[in-house]
Amino acid sequence: MGCLEPVLFLAFMLATAASPALGQADGLSVGFYSTNCSMAEEIVTQTVRDHFKKNSAIAPKLLRLHFHDCFVQGCEGSILIDGNDTEKTAIPNLSLELAFPVIDDAKARLEAECPGVVSCADIVALAARDAVVLTKGLSWTVWTGRRDGNVSSAFDTFVLPSPFDSIDTQKQTFSDLGLDTKDLVTLVGGHTIGTTACQFFSDRLYDFNNTNGTSDPAINSHFLPKLEKLCPQNGDGTNRVVLDWGSGNRFDLSYFFNLGKGQAILDSDEALWADNSTREVVEGYLGNGGLSGLIFDIEFGNSMVKMGNIGVLTGNNGDIRKVCSSFN
Ligand code: HEM
Repeated sequence: MGCLEPVLFLAFMLATAASPALGQADGLSVGFYSTNCSMAEEIVTQTVRDHFKKNSAIAPKLLRLHFHDCFVQGCEGSILIDGNDTEKTAIPNLSLELAFPVIDDAKARLEAECPGVVSCADIVALAARDAVVLTKGLSWTVWTGRRDGNVSSAFDTFVLPSPFDSIDTQKQTFSDLGLDTKDLVTLVGGHTIGTTACQFFSDRLYDFNNTNGTSDPAINSHFLPKLEKLCPQNGDGTNRVVLDWGSGNRFDLSYFFNLGKGQAILDSDEALWADNSTREVVEGYLGNGGLSGLIFDIEFGNSMVKMGNIGVLTGNNGDIRKVCSSFN
């Protein structure tokens, strides 16, 4: 070996180690459609933009759609299927209703341009990125080449994290899918946009730890009456509250600042601040502590790429659906 070879070998090893570090799945690539449907990404972007102009509430729903697709049977579009007892009909997915027509519209436009080429699972992944960009988050490169699955069952959604999960359960759910504690905090940082129904956190206002009448002492005392007003005790729980108080339409750091101010909304959000290891990541994004160099906008894209690899179907597996809401 000449003196350059070991250096090149080391560089090669580092370079090849870099993709598994991001958790890139076999079979996905950047620009997968560049030869057989070169306009694919632009068509999705334009579709999301058109719908966003009419109703900006679609952005958080598209982001959550990708998360709920990936966590249940992998990122293979099973969440999009219509029918009895499909994933779409499961309770955690009911509030995503506005997102489905966006994906169906993008698919129709893509079929007109290049029929049978672009998977619904990829449309979901691309639309999530476009939704973040439209709410002023940083873009990232979406790896594509996913294919669509052939199974969709409401029952399978039991694996989705609940807002009442302990921090240990949250960590376990994510690590079972190859996502570490930093990914957990970073991805839940997606709560910087969008809303929740009162029913998912009113226990914190009126019945904390089943103590009938007590509120969660972690809630800032000036903030509590505001939440109580929006979510009255005798209400039906369907009112909606922004997950990131004061900045629910903008993809920014404010969600993490709110965690530090006693202004978390969900129990599961508050848990990120209460636990030392997750709090260290939150603090890092706020510029404090040992992880102070972390940049949320950049890490969010990295963690989304990792999440986008979960259980993907590639090569000859799965299908390219003709219509996203039904199997071929
Ligand atoms: C421990 C994990 C998580 C829990 C327990 C959780 C829980 C929830 C709950 C209860 C809601 C309100 C649902 C509704 O009322 O419609 C919600 C909304 C939302 N979640 Fe999460 N989530 C988690 C992780 C994530 C991740 C990983 C992302 C994205 C990468 C995400 C993005 C969103 C967004 C954008 C919304 C707002 C949706 C809307 O405006 O309709 N969440 N989440």
